[in-house]
Amino acid sequence: MRVQVCIIGGGPSGLLLSQLLHLQGIDTVVLERRSRDYVLGRIRAGVLESGMCDLLRRAGVGERLDAEGFVHNGTRISARGHDFRIDFKKLTDRTVTVYGQTEVTQDLYAARDAMDGKIIEEAEGVTIHEPTSDAPWVTYTKDGTEHRIDCDWIAGCDGFHGVSRQTIPQERRQEFEKVYPFGWLGILSRTPPVDHELIYSNHPRGFALCSMRNANLSRYYVQAPVDDKVEAWSDDRFWDELKRRIPEEAADKLITGPSIEKSIAPLRSFIAEPMRWGRLFLVGDAAHIVPPTGAKGLNLAASDVHYLSRALIALYAGDGDEGVETYSTQALARVWKASRFSWWMTSTLHSFPDQGDFGQRMQEAEIAYLEQSPAAQTALAENYVGLPY
Ligand code: FAD
Ligand code: DHB
Repeated sequence: MRVQVCIIGGGPSGLLLSQLLHLQGIDTVVLERRSRDYVLGRIRAGVLESGMCDLLRRAGVGERLDAEGFVHNGTRISARGHDFRIDFKKLTDRTVTVYGQTEVTQDLYAARDAMDGKIIEEAEGVTIHEPTSDAPWVTYTKDGTEHRIDCDWIAGCDGFHGVSRQTIPQERRQEFEKVYPFGWLGILSRTPPVDHELIYSNHPRGFALCSMRNANLSRYYVQAPVDDKVEAWSDDRFWDELKRRIPEEAADKLITGPSIEKSIAPLRSFIAEPMRWGRLFLVGDAAHIVPPTGAKGLNLAASDVHYLSRALIALYAGDGDEGVETYSTQALARVWKASRFSWWMTSTLHSFPDQGDFGQRMQEAEIAYLEQSPAAQTALAENYVGLPY
């Protein structure tokens, strides 16, 4: 098979890139290691920046997002049992939308199917060949048979554990990493959310977050030791711990119920540079990971897709290769800023093993300053709703 762009990974970045390119007549194929059911079963991000919503609309997948997504004008922040609200709309004139990653992926698969997009699922042993030549190619095995795809460009959208980043020789890439000494235990429950907006809570027992997917589907997280086993956390233990960490008024009205998903995710900041090697581009989690605090992971994947799709569309339209040449620098500039914000949110809201009482009081002072300072609130709000592309 020959295509213009071979996309490795059928998560949100790969599907969105494929959709945006196809709409401009650029031929792509998506190679996904897992089955579609597996990809759609992963519960991940839930908060979309307005820039990502615009990109989804441009990709022709905004209809359900606009009908079913919940626009949030602000968020609540809590410390020492007291909470206050940051009004994104008033401070930045922008908002975020609560719409699950699962829904985004489902919409993208439906759009790709409607356009006869080529998606090869359960593609094993994907290997990139000669990415620094003018004629790169990719091989994979499906049902025991090896296949070859010749292409002009390869987009590595295959997440943190994919093959694309590893294809760049170690001496040609730099990696920056911080691993946090805790994880997030998250549950999904068919219960009404405790509030119409999210609550981010600092507490000496550890961070907690009240989030949601829709009017009868709640997503809650508590900071937990990263090596804890999910089995050690009965639903009752989870709800008790959550209630202890959030404002009393919220704890009193929290409606609990059986969890329908429960998992522990590690927290990590990671950035690989550069995001291009010859004719191979890295996109989304393949190049960078942020800790989830501040909901930037999926949104950063979307901004990478924005820069790369624009560059390739310009190139195939005969408008030059400047976008391709500057993709890595442009994408990384935004990646570093969003990583800084995620690191700051994580550092301010979580309990670190070695922080002591002094560290706890510093966090509380920082949050008290945030409550009183419109300048500090604006800094949080403009990062939360998303820096411009
Ligand atoms: P992915 O979604 O990882 O997609 C990559 C795809 O490539 C996958 O489908 C994978 O199966 C496929 N693949 C991998 N290797 C290969 C291969 N060798 N060949 C072919 N295909 C391959 N972000 C938030 O903002 N909020 C959250 O609450 C949040 N929670 C998260 C929880 C977890 C457990 C994880 C892992 C991430 C979470 N994130 C969250 C981050 C967010 O989900 C990611 O940033 C987002 O999924 C990135 O999209 P992507 O398409 O770049 O990568
Ligand atoms: C969610 C996850 C986040 O990391 C966050 O900051 C807000 C919401 C969520 O899964 O709903």
